[in-house]
Formats: sequence, structure tokens, C-alpha cells
Amino acid sequence: MDFHYKDIVPWGRSFDEYLDMFNLSEDDLARNIVGVGDGPASFNTWMHQRGTPMVSVDPVYRYSETELRQRIQDTYADVIAQARQNEDKFVWTKFASVDELAEIRMRAMDEFCQDFESGKQQGRYIDASLPNLPFPDGHFDLVLSAHLLFFYSANRDLAFHLDAVRELLRIGTEVRIFPIVDVNSNPSPFLSPVINELEKDGITCSVERVPYHFQKTGNEMLVAMNA
Ligand SMILES: C[S@@+](CC[C@H](N)C(=O)[O-])C[C@H]1O[C@@H](n2cnc3c(N)ncnc32)[C@H](O)[C@@H]1O
Repeated sequence: MDFHYKDIVPWGRSFDEYLDMFNLSEDDLARNIVGVGDGPASFNTWMHQRGTPMVSVDPVYRYSETELRQRIQDTYADVIAQARQNEDKFVWTKFASVDELAEIRMRAMDEFCQDFESGKQQGRYIDASLPNLPFPDGHFDLVLSAHLLFFYSANRDLAFHLDAVRELLRIGTEVRIFPIVDVNSNPSPFLSPVINELEKDGITCSVERVPYHFQKTGNEMLVAMNA
């Protein structure tokens, strides 16, 4: 049975997972970073704690911590049940089992929740949505987006993907998007058309292998750079 989501769900990964998903070096972490569609991931929390704060953007940041905890709890049963039904689609080296996966993800999301209200006051969590982001042109050095574009190809069309990636490139110099397969580990039908259109705009695109390997076919990211 395949994964099926009625819409994009709030679910978040850990700081260590972000490092591997985007192949981030110490030099990368020192750059001016924005994460788009970060949801309840703990990357921002840990970046703040290590003294290299960054900005995260997501429409779920309009909610309170209490409401977010409830949404995560509501999502949990469905995501974990679908993971159990689709165990064969994953490489079980980083996580030993679905139970361990659930524990690590819930810990990361709890860390995010504890940080959320103060981070929002400090301007680290911003309520906004692609394809319109409230930042000036070229504001960031590095724009990261995980488990949103390409991943939810069944929920968003090509026009949305193109508008969204162009907006990411408007606000930053370099854009990294992970993964480039969909929720069922199938190649996204939008990857080639998006790359073709961006290259016509003079953007340099490359598909790069990353250290993160959980979805069987999901160990690559798209890197797009303004000239
Ligand atoms: C599956 S979560 C991924 C969270 C995190 N990036 C990670 O990899 O752990 C997808 C997130 O995308 C957010 N999202 C949905 N539509 C969006 C949009 N138009 N612009 C920005 N974020 C959006 C959702 O609210 C959700 O938090």
C-alpha cells in the first residue's frame, strides 16, 4: 500500500538529519540561512543553541505551541501507521525500526515546541507561505527546503513548484531542495520541467548525492544557484 496524504502534514526532523539531508558543512552553517517549510523540525532550535541563529518559515507558525503540539499528535498516528505499512520503501540503517524512528522524530518535534514561542518573538519562526515570502531580493545566502517541494508532488502542481522555486531563488543566492522524489520514493514528475525552466532563466542546477539515505531512492538534493 502506498503513502497517501490528503494534504501536506506538519512533521519535523532533527538537526542531525538536516545536516545530512543538505550535506551542510561548518562553513554552510555560518551562512545567512532560511529554511522554508521547516514546520516542527528542530534545526532552527539547535542552530539557535549553537549560536548561529537562522530563520524558518512555515504557515503552521500562525498557531500557538499548544495548538502545534495537538496538530503533531493528530498527525503522529497516521504518519507512523503509514510508515509501518511501507517499511520496504526505506533503508533501515539510520533508524533500526519504525518505533525508533517515531521516538527520534517526536523528540525533535518536542525540542522545536519548547523553543517555538520564544523563537517566534525573536523573529526566528515566521508565518508565511510559498510562493510569496516576506523577504527582500537576495536576503539570504542559503535557502533550504525539505520534504515539501517534489515530495508532495501528488498535492501541488507544476505551476506551484515553478513559482515556489523561483521565489526561493529570489530571496537567496543558493537553494537546496531535499528530496527530489515523492512520498512513495518515485521520481517527481516536476523535477525535469523545473530544471529546464530554471536553466532558461540562467540558473545553474545540479542534482547532488547527500549522506542522508532513508527513502530507498531519496539520497539526492537539487542545488540551484543564481549566476
Ligand atoms: C512534512 S513537513 C517538513 C518539515 C521539515 N522541513 C522537515 O523536513 O522535517 C512539510 C511542511 O511544509 C509546510 N508547508 C505547506 N505548504 C507550504 C507553503 N506553501 N509554504 C511553506 N511551507 C509550507 C507544512 O506546514 C509543513 O510544516
